[in-house]
Amino acid sequence: MLIKEFKTPLSGKSVFVGPDSKEDITIMAIESSCDETACAIVKNGREVLANVVASQIKTHQQFGGVVPEVAAREHLESINLVIAEAFEQSGVKPDELTAIAATVGPGLVGSLLVGLNAAKALAVTYDKPFIGVNHLNAHVCANYIDTELKPPMIALLISGGHTQIIKVDSYLEQEILGETIDDATGEAYDKVARLLGLPYPGGLNLDRMAPSGNPKAYILPQAKVDGRYDFSFSGLKTAVLNLTRKLEKELGYIPKEDVAASFQECITSTLFKKTLKAAEDFGIKQIVLGGGVAANSEIRKKFFSLEDKGYKIFAPAMKYCTDNAAMIASSAYFLANTMDSLDIEVFSRC
Ligand code: KG4
Ligand code: ZN
Repeated sequence: MLIKEFKTPLSGKSVFVGPDSKEDITIMAIESSCDETACAIVKNGREVLANVVASQIKTHQQFGGVVPEVAAREHLESINLVIAEAFEQSGVKPDELTAIAATVGPGLVGSLLVGLNAAKALAVTYDKPFIGVNHLNAHVCANYIDTELKPPMIALLISGGHTQIIKVDSYLEQEILGETIDDATGEAYDKVARLLGLPYPGGLNLDRMAPSGNPKAYILPQAKVDGRYDFSFSGLKTAVLNLTRKLEKELGYIPKEDVAASFQECITSTLFKKTLKAAEDFGIKQIVLGGGVAANSEIRKKFFSLEDKGYKIFAPAMKYCTDNAAMIASSAYFLANTMDSLDIEVFSRC
């Protein structure tokens, strides 16, 4: 049975959460791990009743990246607004909520604290159980939204801070098969985008530029690493840096579209090959994508082409790829890696 008992903070009442509950479960969740302040209300882990995201992109654009202190301050300004908006969008009353969830980590400590403390305050105010959620786990759970997806599956998690291939055996059991030994996928995208003079957020802008270039213009290195499912992207970033310097010297300019397309081809084919290898090795015919880079057009194209070969491919809707609170609520419902103590503290790394 996949169900867990939580206690309400004031009256100590038992509340049961999980897919095997006979009652409907409505969870409000807060996400504030990086540069989005978000609040959502989700029913039974899959049905989104409200999804509010206040993005800080404009603020951080002037600095070319996220400034942690500025991010924390903006979260403070937005947090009450996104909570109020989620109640309004959904029409759900505080009394009708089953539990309150929040991202505990990994993320920026100052930013996480804002969302976590707001969620704890709501939990105490309305006497609802508090459920702490792991942000990475939530990116995988974004695939449960609006679908009937059930494990087993191989998950490729590609975000700004992480890159992992995860074998998800059941809602609760998962094993990290491989991960990056240096830069994360989104980080590599953002750094290369900066080299090409593209504005923050770099990954999205590079993805927009790449289709107008030639992906075969330049052959970039695919790093060999010891672990069968591990990645390394720092050499690729250096190769792009050297390439742009060479082109600048030889041509007097950088053919940005071709560099963007060649980089995108190199990194997406590495991710694709290793993930497919994991799926083949373990005989798992379901692959899911998660994290900000799961919004990438070329990644989606490569993986969805596997549907012709008998694979089932899932990728969250664009708004559930990048940081959002609906995936946090879904993750709280499906219970993996959840924490229920009000004393829990934020953590920056796994
Ligand atoms: O999951 P996410 O919103 O935040 C983290 O948890 O890190 O991921 C953000 C990352 C950024 O590096 C951003 O540049 C990248 O996802 N990203 C993309 C695309 N959209 C967002 N990278 C490549 N192509 C995209 N379309
Ligand atoms: Zn994220």
